Amino acid sequence: MVVGSFVSVSLEPPLIAFFPDRASSSWAKLRDCENFCVNILSSEQEGLCRKLASKSPDKFEGASHRNSARGNPVLDGVVAWIECQRHSIADAGDHELVIGRVLSLEIETAGYPLLFFQGGYGRFAPASISAVETPGLTLGQLRCVDRARPEMEAMSDELTARCLAVVQIGAELAIVANSGRARRDAPGTLVGQRLPFVPPTGSIFAAWLPDRARENWIDRVANGERRQAVRMALERVRSRGYSLGLLNDAQREFSSRIDSIAAGLEHSVGLEALIDSLYYDPENLTPAEYALIRVITAPVFDATGEVSFALTLYDFQKPTVTGGIEKYIARVTEGAARVTKRIGG
Ligand SMILES: Cc1cc2nc3c(=O)[nH]c(=O)nc-3n(C[C@H](O)[C@H](O)[C@H](O)COP(=O)(O)O)c2cc1C
Repeated sequence: MVVGSFVSVSLEPPLIAFFPDRASSSWAKLRDCENFCVNILSSEQEGLCRKLASKSPDKFEGASHRNSARGNPVLDGVVAWIECQRHSIADAGDHELVIGRVLSLEIETAGYPLLFFQGGYGRFAPASISAVETPGLTLGQLRCVDRARPEMEAMSDELTARCLAVVQIGAELAIVANSGRARRDAPGTLVGQRLPFVPPTGSIFAAWLPDRARENWIDRVANGERRQAVRMALERVRSRGYSLGLLNDAQREFSSRIDSIAAGLEHSVGLEALIDSLYYDPENLTPAEYALIRVITAPVFDATGEVSFALTLYDFQKPTVTGGIEKYIARVTEGAARVTKRIGG
């Protein structure tokens, strides 16, 4: 079960505590266990957290784990885990106060924990120097993006379009460079704009992630039935080598909200539900779908084979000749391949 009421209690002896709801059916099953394992979820595990906090019978599906020496589940990808022996259970109103004695503990990954605040999830941001490095844009990444500039400008000129360089920083995507001229009513630059790294946006980064990280990303989709569709769409991105964003009503609303968020007129509350309805990477690419394409994104790989950043073509004029859009797609993927070569990927 997910608990937000976890707290450290004593160092000598080492004790921790949490407060389960008396009405919780999960707690009813755990109550008789002699020992248990506390897993500290990472800021990358919002999807998993939502799933484990649900009452869905398949809530453990896809929650990959190994067993500790005592047979308790240690979830993959957590920041740390603490295995405890039940010490005492005390009455605490409609909750109980469970104290556990720490038997063993381990840091699993150098990341930040997931936080819950006012009904939403986020991550810890250090206000002072702390042990863990904040995931951020590195100067090395910026250097790579800068080497893509001639290619981005060439694409903008040739296709009368705008081109973006997008990086993934932890749980967000950020636009770090743009080329091409803005239309009259459009913002002059999108550099600095950030988006949550959730399906279907960012599929170009997710498609080449290792299996476990990819599944964590898919888990960010709240609706379980949609996850399989997202998984299939990722396969298509991998085999096609590019990602397509198509126009639909959600996209129109999303674009206008993004503009006013960038202008500081509103907050990004509720954006995730909208993102869920965006139209990306359909199975069939018929002329009707081709006509709706609004962004074409291709990956630039680094020397380790990971996606270093993505190049996105947008704001292009509708090609008038048949096969025009295929030529645009080919131009973006060739451009990204050339940049990959230039940065030694
Ligand atoms: C962020 C968060 C914190 C939670 N903290 C607690 C908690 O401290 N104690 C508790 O009993 N339930 C807590 N819950 C609720 C349980 O994780 C879970 O939703 C509930 O147990 C599901 O009902 P069930 O146990 O009957 O299946 C929390 C849920 C979330 C999402």
